[in-house]
Amino acid sequence: MTARRKAKFAHAPGFAYVQKTASRSSGVPELALYSDEVELSHLANRYGTPLYVYSADVIRDRLASFQSAFHGVPHTICYSVKANSNLNILRLLARSGCGFDVVSGGELERVLAANRASARRVVFSGVGKTRYEIAAALKAKILLFNVESESELQVLADCAARLRSVARVALRVNPDVAADTHPYISTGLHAHKFGVPIREAQRLYAKVAEATHLRAAGVSVHIGSQITDVAPFAETMTRVAELVRELRDDGHAIDYVDAGGGLGIPYQKPASANSSAQADFSKQVAAYARAIIAPLHGLNVHLLLEPGRSIVGPAGVLITSVIYRKANGGKRFVIVDAAMNDLIRPALYGAYHEIIPLKRSPVAETEGPRETVDVVGPVCETGDFFARDRALPAVKEGDLLAILDAGAYGMALASNYNTRPRPAEILVSGKSAKVIRRREKVADLIRTER
Ligand code: LLP
Repeated sequence: MTARRKAKFAHAPGFAYVQKTASRSSGVPELALYSDEVELSHLANRYGTPLYVYSADVIRDRLASFQSAFHGVPHTICYSVKANSNLNILRLLARSGCGFDVVSGGELERVLAANRASARRVVFSGVGKTRYEIAAALKAKILLFNVESESELQVLADCAARLRSVARVALRVNPDVAADTHPYISTGLHAHKFGVPIREAQRLYAKVAEATHLRAAGVSVHIGSQITDVAPFAETMTRVAELVRELRDDGHAIDYVDAGGGLGIPYQKPASANSSAQADFSKQVAAYARAIIAPLHGLNVHLLLEPGRSIVGPAGVLITSVIYRKANGGKRFVIVDAAMNDLIRPALYGAYHEIIPLKRSPVAETEGPRETVDVVGPVCETGDFFARDRALPAVKEGDLLAILDAGAYGMALASNYNTRPRPAEILVSGKSAKVIRRREKVADLIRTER
């Protein structure tokens, strides 16, 4: 195959089919899935499957969309490390001016390893920070502690006193706003473990003011993840703005409002996906920015945003090979070499991820032969599936598939269940494909055992 031209549509921003001329042997033209200039099947052949592949351009473009949507107000994007914590991705984001939201000492160490200078743009969230983690963050001189309980406030004051430093504090308030998302990732109701009830905030800020080694610097909030309607964000910020006014009246210098993360992405694509996904995203972020900024009008605060999924989700795919096909009764199964340990979202949340072949015929997608199958992994659990009763283009044993929108909470949530070494990760930029994490070996897994 030689000459190729860009196909008219892209399935996900950064991942597009390219038409290849007919090979001499088959005489049939075909479409091959690329990330930037790199053909994904070449990566699969070279590095094996399952394999995570990320597009650097998509990550940069999505960060740029955030930066431009908020450019009218003082702000810092603090990328939520939990979504994808690979050092190379953190480094790429740090170079583009990003700060970071961390939730553990481990994530803080990753940020420092990627770019030490980023520490001053780090916010530390989480309901269960230990003394050790708090001390490490104080030593690194991070920007802000998002404190989630009165007990944590006391421990933070104590650690700061021991280190003779002053911790900048934002209380994470629980605004009691419902967001339409999976119950496991909704956080903004009083029934959830997160934050302090917003009505108790004034009393707690008074405590902060009394503590020599604490300084009230902001208010933070995070209502959940994969939220696609911007209304709950606006409602939350209205409540936060009210609180900021009250706190300022009480004499606290509230300079920061941390609006958290949570902006959702469209996992399910319309049948005729086109290449305007990046433009759609820019519009979506602009609407999100309006929802966040409008209620804060006149307060002149520095905004912090903690997006995770919306920056890296669509930038990654998980490539997997079809090992076997089989039929049990009336049901057809496509058994692939990736499993719930590599990408747990379908098993854990019933999440939907598009699955597309790495190669297909140029016949319009809707006209090609399709069959209804379950796409499942080799792990010994019925919950180990990527798709159920899904109409997909017919696939054969040995074919390669891409599971889309796997850049966020994919590798970050991967485990070694069934003693399965975790996949390698590749970062594509233009023509270059860099291994940013080698595939694990079983030896890596048993090394720490005696
Ligand atoms: N800030 C805080 C305090 C958070 O708890 C989270 C996510 C974020 C920011 C980033 O949210 P994002 O922009 O990524 O929605 N494993 C689940 C998602 C868990 C989200 C946890 N917190 C999933 O795969 O859907």
